[in-house]
Amino acid sequence: MTELSSYAFSALREGEFTLYRGLGDGLDPILLVAPVVEHPPLDALKRLEHEYALRTELDRGWATRPLTLTRRHNRATLVLEDPGGEPLDRLLGGPVDVTQFLSIAIPLAAALGRMHARGLIHKDIKPANVLVDLASGGVWLTGFGIASRVPREHQEPGPPDVIAGTLAYMAPEQTGRMNRSIDSRSDLYALGVTFYEMLTGELPFTLARGELQRGQVVLHADLFAGNRAFGDRVQLQQVMLDLIRNGIDAMSAVTDRPRVLAISTEFAEPGAVLVAVPDAGAGLDPATAERIFDPFFTTKANGMGMGLSICRSIIEAHGGRLWASPHRPYGTIFRFTVPIADRSHDLLPSHRETNS
Ligand SMILES: Nc1ncnc2c1ncn2[C@@H]1O[C@H](COP(=O)(O)OP(=O)(O)O)[C@@H](O)[C@H]1O
Ligand SMILES: [Mg+2]
Repeated sequence: MTELSSYAFSALREGEFTLYRGLGDGLDPILLVAPVVEHPPLDALKRLEHEYALRTELDRGWATRPLTLTRRHNRATLVLEDPGGEPLDRLLGGPVDVTQFLSIAIPLAAALGRMHARGLIHKDIKPANVLVDLASGGVWLTGFGIASRVPREHQEPGPPDVIAGTLAYMAPEQTGRMNRSIDSRSDLYALGVTFYEMLTGELPFTLARGELQRGQVVLHADLFAGNRAFGDRVQLQQVMLDLIRNGIDAMSAVTDRPRVLAISTEFAEPGAVLVAVPDAGAGLDPATAERIFDPFFTTKANGMGMGLSICRSIIEAHGGRLWASPHRPYGTIFRFTVPIADRSHDLLPSHRETNS
């Protein structure tokens, strides 16, 4: 391979690793992946080596292929073939329109399918690890530092460095906190999060920040650190979002007092976490309070009336309860419990199956 010194490099992305594009007269373009710091943690170096070791299994039709592992500027540096294109995270400034979404999502899903057909699991699918060439429609996967060859493996709960990958995109089983195996479906979960982000411009569970601002609502969260409820993260966060949205709606007409949602968690009973979402809104109408959990019951002009009914079934599927009561001096307080014991393996498979 030609000397790296014949190339001119520009950074495509910073992060734990910097991604450079190298161009030179009459030279094949290359990409470099190099740690930002001169002495990165051993684990970061291992990921570079691991990606290099996978080179014969990565196909230039769907991946950026490693060419060599070398040193540059005193740093371990992985040199990759450059298929062209830009990291998808750089292309996402907000929601993309549906036509553009499909022009990326379809080849991206195909690339993932081809990788899985090779018996590889990526384990860190996210926009930063996808290169997209909008002009040619080409899509390539990159960032194979924690990819695995094994079609099925069990992830033991371990120290944090075992939980590699990027939490926001990570399937619950991949965090090692659920008694389930990692397989190619973990990548599909991350792909789903990526698609959501492309379409909405937000991660699924960034707590509706825009909605809070529009409703001029202040959110306080007094949450336990170190205690975990076990369950389906997607579903439980859906419950939180629905309750928060309802609280914002309930306070939309409030002008004479602070619009505050003060979320708290505490141990309610042995083996359960209790989450409380009190608002300072109009309160429940006694005439209809009994019906708020019924499907399609809504008092809102544009309401679907499905939120609370879905929340209740999610919480009950987790072995918990969800209920509402008046909040003094005004407003409503929704509370739910989630068992702490790890019952996820006997409760959730059927539930997740219907989800996917
Ligand atoms: N925090 C709250 N304060 C007062 N009323 C509420 C609150 N949350 C829900 N409700 C009542 O319950 C109804 C049903 O809520 P939900 O099932 O989430 O459907 P939607 O939000 O689409 O109306 C709402 O229309 C509202 O009348
Ligand atoms: Mg609702």
